[in-house]
Amino acid sequence: MDLRRLFLTRSLLCLLFFAFVLGLYVTFSLKRDMLENHTETIVAFVRNAIHHHLSAKDFEAPKLKTEDYESFELAIRDISEIPQFLRIKFYDRHGRIIWSDEQELVGDRFTANRDLDRALNGEVVAQYSRLSKKENIYEKGFNYVLEAYIPLYFGDSEVFAVAEVYYGVDGLFERIARTRVAVWIITLASFLALYLLLSKIFFNASSLIIKQKEDLERTNLALEKTYLGTIKALVSAVDAKDHYTKGHSVRVAQISLLLAESLLVDDKTRFEIQQAALLHDVGKIGIDDVILKKPGRLSPEEWEIMKKHPVIGATILEEAETLSKDLINMIRSHHERFDGNGYPDGLMKDQIPLGARIIAVADAYDAMRSERPYRMAKTPEEILSEFEDASGTQFDPMVVEALFGIADQIEKVIYAASKNNMTHQFIATTRLSAE
Ligand SMILES: [Fe+2]
Repeated sequence: MDLRRLFLTRSLLCLLFFAFVLGLYVTFSLKRDMLENHTETIVAFVRNAIHHHLSAKDFEAPKLKTEDYESFELAIRDISEIPQFLRIKFYDRHGRIIWSDEQELVGDRFTANRDLDRALNGEVVAQYSRLSKKENIYEKGFNYVLEAYIPLYFGDSEVFAVAEVYYGVDGLFERIARTRVAVWIITLASFLALYLLLSKIFFNASSLIIKQKEDLERTNLALEKTYLGTIKALVSAVDAKDHYTKGHSVRVAQISLLLAESLLVDDKTRFEIQQAALLHDVGKIGIDDVILKKPGRLSPEEWEIMKKHPVIGATILEEAETLSKDLINMIRSHHERFDGNGYPDGLMKDQIPLGARIIAVADAYDAMRSERPYRMAKTPEEILSEFEDASGTQFDPMVVEALFGIADQIEKVIYAASKNNMTHQFIATTRLSAE
């Protein structure tokens, strides 16, 4: 649900942001287009009025009210026919005011005016600007004006004069403001509709994913149960074959787990060691009961048959195709010796998988700790003494050292196992701890 909320809030913010930017862009474009059209009209109108009433001669010297004033007034009357005309000034080609309604300015020269300079170089310069309060009073209550510098030509291609005109544009700006609101409303409405549509699609898709995930979890649970059931059946089958080794597989798995933890084995390998330890004697299913349940010591021939159980076990589990090659190799090699005198492959030292070296120690510990038809169970002290002797020959010294470090914990496990039949619980815990 958090993911959904995250998607909805972020996508809403994105949509609002883009709607805002789009609204700004549209109104900006609108304003620019209006300025262009407005300026074109005014330029044409002003030039037409000037050419109709004035000549190059009129712009040769500053005009005061007393001299040649009438022709300017006629031209300005035409120019003021465009609504909201405010004022006009004329400059000669040197930037000097030739005519202005502010008589005191006539004859002044403006050299620091950038817009005027551009116009003197032949460019029409126009912009909308906001008037300051002081100007506002003077300019008959307008808030916004169009200010344009218009180059004037008389016959040749050189700029002969420049007209500076002001028109009020409040009505225009009100239209732009109304248009901007309309654009924002339309854009927001469209984006919200798109957002709702997207949200619905997202909700449907995420509901489907959640349902599929639940189905998958149910299937996994069913598979898990099947897997655990299979392991339990196999372990029980081995236990049932040999009365004297009842519970042996589970105890070996528990001891192997303690050893693996003590040796800081990674999670994946530790899980495989647990599973391999549980199934290490599964090959005994293929050994004749006469040999398996023989009360006395085995003859050399019988012993040769007994020695086949690691390979039989590995072969059975290979058929299952669900267990990893590493895990199966641990089962195959659990009777290898560190000095290379073990079976079935005579591997030595690091050639033997670590899991198999661990299981070998755990297997021997539990076997010595259990009573057999031909001998009593050994004490922990006797067993540790035997491991000391066999370290580096039968067993990996590193694993034996780990065993000495956790001997007390192992005894607790064996004691607990003797009190309870924990096969099922242990298998379940083993599986879950690896998840
Ligand atoms: Fe074995």
